[in-house]
Amino acid sequence: MEINCNNVQIEQVITNLLLNAEDALDHTKDKRIFIRAFFDNGYAIVEVRDNGKGISKAQQQKIFDPFFTTKKLGEGMGLGLSISLNIIKNHGGTIDLGSREGKGTAFRIKLPLASSMYISNRNLLFGPEPFFREI
Ligand SMILES: Nc1ncnc2c1ncn2[C@@H]1O[C@H](COP(=O)(O)OP(=O)(O)O)[C@@H](O)[C@H]1O
Ligand SMILES: [Mg+2]
Repeated sequence: MEINCNNVQIEQVITNLLLNAEDALDHTKDKRIFIRAFFDNGYAIVEVRDNGKGISKAQQQKIFDPFFTTKKLGEGMGLGLSISLNIIKNHGGTIDLGSREGKGTAFRIKLPLASSMYISNRNLLFGPEPFFREI
Protein backbone atom coordinates (compact mmCIF):
# COMPACT_ATOMS: atom_id res chain seq x y z
CA MET A 1 0.00 0.00 0.00
CA GLU A 2 1.25 3.42 -0.84
CA ILE A 3 0.61 7.07 -0.25
CA ASN A 4 1.48 10.07 -2.37
CA CYS A 5 3.51 12.41 -0.28
CA ASN A 6 6.32 14.85 -0.13
CA ASN A 7 8.86 12.83 1.87
CA VAL A 8 10.76 15.85 3.12
CA GLN A 9 7.61 17.51 4.43
CA ILE A 10 6.27 14.37 6.12
CA GLU A 11 9.69 13.77 7.66
CA GLN A 12 9.56 17.35 8.99
CA VAL A 13 6.15 16.70 10.56
CA ILE A 14 7.23 13.46 12.26
CA THR A 15 10.52 15.00 13.41
CA ASN A 16 8.67 17.88 15.03
CA LEU A 17 6.32 15.47 16.81
CA LEU A 18 9.31 13.51 18.12
CA LEU A 19 11.15 16.66 19.25
CA ASN A 20 8.01 17.96 20.97
CA ALA A 21 7.64 14.59 22.70
CA GLU A 22 11.25 14.75 23.83
CA ASP A 23 10.77 18.28 25.20
CA ALA A 24 7.63 17.16 27.07
CA LEU A 25 9.68 14.52 28.92
CA ASP A 26 12.01 17.03 30.59
CA HIS A 27 10.66 16.34 34.08
CA THR A 28 9.50 12.77 33.55
CA LYS A 29 11.58 10.08 35.27
CA ASP A 30 10.73 7.03 33.19
CA LYS A 31 10.87 8.74 29.81
CA ARG A 32 9.05 6.96 26.99
CA ILE A 33 8.23 7.81 23.40
CA PHE A 34 6.24 5.37 21.29
CA ILE A 35 5.89 5.58 17.54
CA ARG A 36 3.90 3.29 15.32
CA ALA A 37 2.54 3.29 11.81
CA PHE A 38 -0.17 1.18 10.27
CA PHE A 39 -2.87 1.13 7.62
CA ASP A 40 -6.51 1.53 8.47
CA ASN A 41 -9.52 1.93 6.25
CA GLY A 42 -7.87 3.76 3.34
CA TYR A 43 -5.41 5.69 5.48
CA ALA A 44 -1.81 5.41 6.58
CA ILE A 45 -1.67 6.32 10.25
CA VAL A 46 1.36 7.46 12.20
CA GLU A 47 1.12 7.88 15.95
CA VAL A 48 3.65 9.47 18.26
CA ARG A 49 2.95 9.14 21.96
CA ASP A 50 4.86 10.25 25.06
CA ASN A 51 4.39 9.95 28.79
CA GLY A 52 5.41 13.56 29.37
CA LYS A 53 3.74 16.53 30.99
CA GLY A 54 0.64 16.55 28.79
CA ILE A 55 -1.29 19.52 27.41
CA SER A 56 -4.15 21.22 29.25
CA LYS A 57 -7.54 21.45 27.54
CA ALA A 58 -7.11 25.24 27.25
CA GLN A 59 -3.72 24.89 25.58
CA GLN A 60 -4.96 22.16 23.25
CA GLN A 61 -7.05 24.87 21.54
CA LYS A 62 -3.94 26.92 20.80
CA ILE A 63 -1.11 24.55 19.96
CA PHE A 64 -1.74 24.67 16.19
CA ASP A 65 -1.72 28.49 16.16
CA PRO A 66 1.38 30.03 14.56
CA PHE A 67 3.91 31.19 17.16
CA PHE A 68 2.14 29.52 20.09
CA THR A 69 4.84 28.04 22.29
CA THR A 70 5.30 27.29 25.97
CA LYS A 71 9.05 26.97 25.52
CA LYS A 72 11.67 29.43 26.65
CA LEU A 73 12.91 32.16 24.34
CA GLY A 74 15.25 30.55 21.86
CA GLU A 75 13.97 27.01 22.48
CA GLY A 76 10.78 27.06 20.48
CA MET A 77 9.39 29.21 17.70
CA GLY A 78 5.89 27.82 18.02
CA LEU A 79 5.74 27.09 14.31
CA GLY A 80 6.17 23.32 14.28
CA LEU A 81 2.56 22.29 14.69
CA SER A 82 1.10 25.09 12.61
CA ILE A 83 3.39 24.17 9.68
CA SER A 84 2.64 20.49 10.31
CA LEU A 85 -1.09 21.08 10.15
CA ASN A 86 -0.70 22.87 6.81
CA ILE A 87 1.46 20.09 5.41
CA ILE A 88 -0.96 17.37 6.50
CA LYS A 89 -3.97 19.30 5.19
CA ASN A 90 -2.19 19.76 1.84
CA HIS A 91 -1.82 15.98 1.71
CA GLY A 92 -5.55 15.56 2.31
CA GLY A 93 -4.92 14.18 5.78
CA THR A 94 -5.69 15.04 9.37
CA ILE A 95 -3.73 15.49 12.56
CA ASP A 96 -5.30 15.15 15.97
CA LEU A 97 -4.32 14.46 19.53
CA GLY A 98 -5.31 13.12 22.88
CA SER A 99 -3.62 14.39 26.01
CA ARG A 100 -3.90 14.31 29.77
CA GLU A 101 -1.97 16.65 32.00
CA GLY A 102 0.71 14.83 33.92
CA LYS A 103 0.09 11.63 31.92
CA GLY A 104 1.18 12.26 28.36
CA THR A 105 0.16 13.05 24.83
CA ALA A 106 -0.55 11.14 21.65
CA PHE A 107 -0.59 12.71 18.20
CA ARG A 108 -2.10 10.88 15.24
CA ILE A 109 -1.47 11.74 11.59
CA LYS A 110 -3.78 10.25 8.98
CA LEU A 111 -2.74 10.31 5.32
CA PRO A 112 -5.00 8.98 2.58
CA LEU A 113 -3.69 5.99 0.67
CA ALA A 114 -2.96 6.56 -2.99
CA SER A 115 -5.04 5.06 -5.69
CA SER A 116 -2.56 3.08 -7.83
CA MET A 117 -3.24 5.44 -10.76
CA TYR A 118 -1.43 8.32 -9.11
CA ILE A 119 1.68 6.77 -7.63
CA SER A 120 3.93 6.90 -10.68
CA ASN A 121 6.01 10.03 -10.25
CA ARG A 122 5.69 10.71 -6.56
CA ASN A 123 7.71 9.51 -3.62
CA LEU A 124 6.50 6.59 -1.58
CA LEU A 125 6.81 6.63 2.17
CA PHE A 126 5.16 3.39 3.14
CA GLY A 127 5.65 -0.14 1.96
CA PRO A 128 3.54 -3.21 2.51
CA GLU A 129 4.51 -3.92 6.12
CA PRO A 130 2.61 -2.27 8.95
CA PHE A 131 5.81 -0.97 10.49
CA PHE A 132 7.65 2.27 10.42
CA ARG A 133 10.13 2.33 7.59
CA GLU A 134 13.25 4.27 6.94
CA ILE A 135 12.43 7.64 5.37
N1 LIG B 1 4.00 16.12 23.07
C1 LIG B 1 3.74 17.28 23.66
N2 LIG B 1 3.60 17.35 25.01
C2 LIG B 1 3.32 18.51 25.63
N3 LIG B 1 3.15 19.68 24.99
C3 LIG B 1 3.26 19.68 23.64
C4 LIG B 1 3.55 18.49 22.92
N4 LIG B 1 3.59 18.80 21.60
C5 LIG B 1 3.33 20.12 21.51
N5 LIG B 1 3.14 20.65 22.73
C6 LIG B 1 2.82 22.06 23.03
O1 LIG B 1 2.52 22.72 21.81
C7 LIG B 1 3.34 23.88 21.69
C8 LIG B 1 3.55 24.19 20.22
O2 LIG B 1 4.35 23.19 19.59
P1 LIG B 1 5.12 23.54 18.24
O3 LIG B 1 4.15 24.18 17.30
O4 LIG B 1 5.84 22.35 17.77
O5 LIG B 1 6.12 24.70 18.66
P2 LIG B 1 7.43 24.63 19.62
O6 LIG B 1 7.88 23.21 19.71
O7 LIG B 1 8.41 25.52 18.91
O8 LIG B 1 6.99 25.20 20.94
C9 LIG B 1 4.58 23.55 22.49
O9 LIG B 1 5.27 24.72 22.91
C10 LIG B 1 3.98 22.79 23.67
O10 LIG B 1 3.44 23.69 24.62
MG1 LIG C 1 7.94 21.87 18.04
